Amino acid sequence: MFNLRKTRRTLRKLFRKARELVEQPIVDLASGIPNYKPPREVLDAVSKAFNMDLCYTSPRGLLDLREKLSEKIEDEHGIYYDPDNEVLITHGASEALYSALVVMLKDSRKILVPTPHYPFYKHQILSLRGKLLTYPFGTNIPFSKSLAYIEKHMSSGRDKYAILINSPHNPTGKVLSRKEVEELSEFIEERDVIVIWDEVYEKIIFEGEHYTLANIQESKSKVVFINSFSKTYAMHGWRIGFIYGPSRIIDEVFKIHKAITLGLNPIPQLAALAALNTNKKYIENILNILRKRRNTILSRLKRMEAFDLAKGQGTFFLFPKLKLPGMSCEEFVKVLQNNGVKVLPGKAFNEEGYVRISFAHAGLDEIEQALGRIENVVTKIIKSRQ
Ligand SMILES: Cc1ncc(COP(=O)(O)O)c(C=O)c1O
Repeated sequence: MFNLRKTRRTLRKLFRKARELVEQPIVDLASGIPNYKPPREVLDAVSKAFNMDLCYTSPRGLLDLREKLSEKIEDEHGIYYDPDNEVLITHGASEALYSALVVMLKDSRKILVPTPHYPFYKHQILSLRGKLLTYPFGTNIPFSKSLAYIEKHMSSGRDKYAILINSPHNPTGKVLSRKEVEELSEFIEERDVIVIWDEVYEKIIFEGEHYTLANIQESKSKVVFINSFSKTYAMHGWRIGFIYGPSRIIDEVFKIHKAITLGLNPIPQLAALAALNTNKKYIENILNILRKRRNTILSRLKRMEAFDLAKGQGTFFLFPKLKLPGMSCEEFVKVLQNNGVKVLPGKAFNEEGYVRISFAHAGLDEIEQALGRIENVVTKIIKSRQ
């Protein structure tokens, strides 16, 4: 028999739930897209650019921009990279990485990738029919252990290798220390190996410094750096990045880059130049905002007993291990999503048992709201198991 009362009650509940959902949109702690805006100077440069005669630019990128980048690198790391043939402007870090990988694979090099890793590494390598070889990397792994894995791969045959380094590291936030970079420099010295160093989070560091192989002259011939304006200057949609390294490798990368792009749109390049001329306060300000978000998340997660927290020194990500026995990360992520918080499972980064929490996209208020929801969910799960 049709029960009118019961139906009304159910409908009321559903409407209440829907109202709550409208009032409480999902807090996005998954996205790596910053919610801060590019510097004002960037927007001004763009409006000026529209009145210019825009035409094809040098396929290597605007010379002014390459010169400015060469100065930046020398100021920050002490080594000169020639803007004519050692610095190349690319369609984001993604294209720089892709072109570099093509060069490595053409040279029959196998690519060693840190795990966990930014998912695009795997997509790019597999799309090029390369093989994904991994080594463990992260906040709770001594770098000597990562190198031991790399060594093991390399000693298993006569193959040549390229090592992908990502520091500051997405997703764990690990930043290689000076000592670890020196270890890496020694490691590559004796071996036929190229390092591809993805440093797109170079400015998002809360503890320590961005010391790299670009600080060590002896390593220069064996390393290319991939960088971008996406994270530091929130210019992700502008698709502008760069690669620098010894001319021997950059010339090869250039051939691929030119074949794909025939040069880039000048507007993002002019915008990037303006970004580099921005007052340093822009970055300080962003770091202060991000630091507050990070500290808030760290102190609240510590209280929850559901996570093993190994905090990194940089990036806007945390990658805690889930400590809820009998519950998979996928299940946990789903439950959180149903309760208004979006995070990513470690599996997306090729590492089971972890979740990635991003503080790039949500503001402090939203983050606090999300933490309340996470705490609620965790408390309920723990209670249900007692
Ligand atoms: C580690 C890493 N490298 C590269 C990229 C891509 O950068 P771009 O937007 O410049 O292509 C990202 C974007 O999230 C990233 O996390």
